[in-house]
Amino acid sequence: MSSAAEQKTNAAKAALTYVEDGMTVGLGSGSTAAIFVRLLAERIQKEGLNIQGIPTSKATEQIALDHKVPLMPIEHASKIDVTIDGADEVDGRFRLIKGGGACLLREKIIAAASDLMVVVIDETKLVGRLGQFPLPVEVDPFGFTITAKKIFEALRKTGVAKPEVELRCLADGREPLITDGGNYILDCACGEIPDPEASANALANIAGVVDHGLFIDLARVVIVGEDKGARVMEL
Ligand code: 5RP
Repeated sequence: MSSAAEQKTNAAKAALTYVEDGMTVGLGSGSTAAIFVRLLAERIQKEGLNIQGIPTSKATEQIALDHKVPLMPIEHASKIDVTIDGADEVDGRFRLIKGGGACLLREKIIAAASDLMVVVIDETKLVGRLGQFPLPVEVDPFGFTITAKKIFEALRKTGVAKPEVELRCLADGREPLITDGGNYILDCACGEIPDPEASANALANIAGVVDHGLFIDLARVVIVGEDKGARVMEL
């Protein structure tokens, strides 16, 4: 196993300690969250736990179904005890960039509805400043070129020196990727986001923006997988 894969597995293993019998658990998206779902399935079977999962994407829903993790529609959940999810970048104040897998909208709805968000990452995701990873912004397809210009201006106004906004396409490079919510993703190469709160607020105020990949004040626990074991950081 590569070092990153090993670190993701170690982070996912450590996250299991945040799950208790009877909990409703938000199931994140991406490769690290997928490992967590598989480990959770093993634990449910071994210990006979009563867990209800709420997936943050159709892809995660399928993984959970394949591994027999019981699922609950989010509309039926009176509360979500804990959500375990990955991230593309995490800074020292637990601010995140998410959406590399195009699932940021459901991920944010579920994280914001959870009593606790636990982030599971490998060491490469820890950064001093957010912005090396292009910031995904989910937009309504209607008028997306206009929305893209507004996003560019909002990022400029909030201190990003030279934002580059690009429509995310499928592997063929021609067709736009469509999210689970039926929207487009605009990836914004920023280099550095000097004031994530200001950028987050400015993006949220643009008509046509459905949501953006800056997750601020949501994560309370970050688990960094290492080659041997994991480091748990709590705010
Ligand atoms: C999906 C996400 C993922 O959590 C993020 O892309 C990290 O994925 P991985 O664990 O595969 O590195 O935000 O929208």
